[in-house]
Amino acid sequence: AIEGDEYAFSPTPSVPRRTSKLGIVGAGAVGSTMAYAALMRGAARTVALLDVNKAKVEAEVLDLSHGIQFMSMAEVMGSDDVSVMADCDVVMFTAGAKQKPGQSRLDLAEATISLVQKVLPGIVEVAPNAVYVMVTNPVDVVTYAALKISGLPPSQLFGSGTVLDSSRLRYLIARHTGVAVQNVHAYVAGEHGDTELPLWSSATIGSVPILEWASGDGGPLTREVRDAIAREVVESAYRIIEGKGATNYAIALAGSRIIEAVLKDERRILPVSSLLDGYLGMSDVCLSVPSIVGSSGVRERLEVPMSSDELMGMRRSAEAVRSVARRFGF
Ligand code: 2OP
Repeated sequence: AIEGDEYAFSPTPSVPRRTSKLGIVGAGAVGSTMAYAALMRGAARTVALLDVNKAKVEAEVLDLSHGIQFMSMAEVMGSDDVSVMADCDVVMFTAGAKQKPGQSRLDLAEATISLVQKVLPGIVEVAPNAVYVMVTNPVDVVTYAALKISGLPPSQLFGSGTVLDSSRLRYLIARHTGVAVQNVHAYVAGEHGDTELPLWSSATIGSVPILEWASGDGGPLTREVRDAIAREVVESAYRIIEGKGATNYAIALAGSRIIEAVLKDERRILPVSSLLDGYLGMSDVCLSVPSIVGSSGVRERLEVPMSSDELMGMRRSAEAVRSVARRFGF
């Protein structure tokens, strides 16, 4: 290669080959379904589960392993001992208190934070280079607390945030318009919870701004339609929890999307929850904004153009998350 020629072909890959070991903390509904989703998608070569309930984690490992014939090659392991997490490349933290019907995500903060305090440092010790993704609710507060507890850099530890809410939003827009969900580009930002907000002003369908959309089955997305969709996104989790006690499939797939972005260094734009530092005037709070995610974690937060309403919504979200974090001494 000619020196200084950045386009010259180099036979040495710039990204080191990864061993692709996925660790999942918590073998409950979310953790075990996420393991299943990641295995189905061939996301990792090794999947390790950690749970305090030894019988449960061993049973999940057996059940998942028995399906390997039908998936791409992988090894599944699990234990109640933290050493099973050794040398993970990515760790998904799903353990925590379960949201009961009628409870908000923020109601779960105390129990989950003390669990993170107990478990996370030991995992970081055996897997210091992993990218950590907090999934447990209230995810924005838990992510903030986990950063303080672990001392990890904010690029290396973030939360699953509103990746799931954004897929709910896209699904509902797709249903209204009769257009494939893959052609809907819209993000939910802010808190993964009651104050979250769709970023309508920058959303597009097949490159047509959503606010100008007039095609498809359902007609324009008027203010009324948009408000109804936004409400349904917020209420989705409550409805599912009322009916089946937990949500697991969509969060598992959203988690798998994040896992693949990290393990394959895909640099996907995903609305994950990370520590804001001067983002549109907001600092010292974890919130979801569209971010570039790759093997080092969050590489960059995109400065999405926002309407003044959206900016106000983001500030409200920041306040809601901050006030809960403060209540627990963070
Ligand atoms: C969800 O949104 C409960 O946070 C979980 O499905």
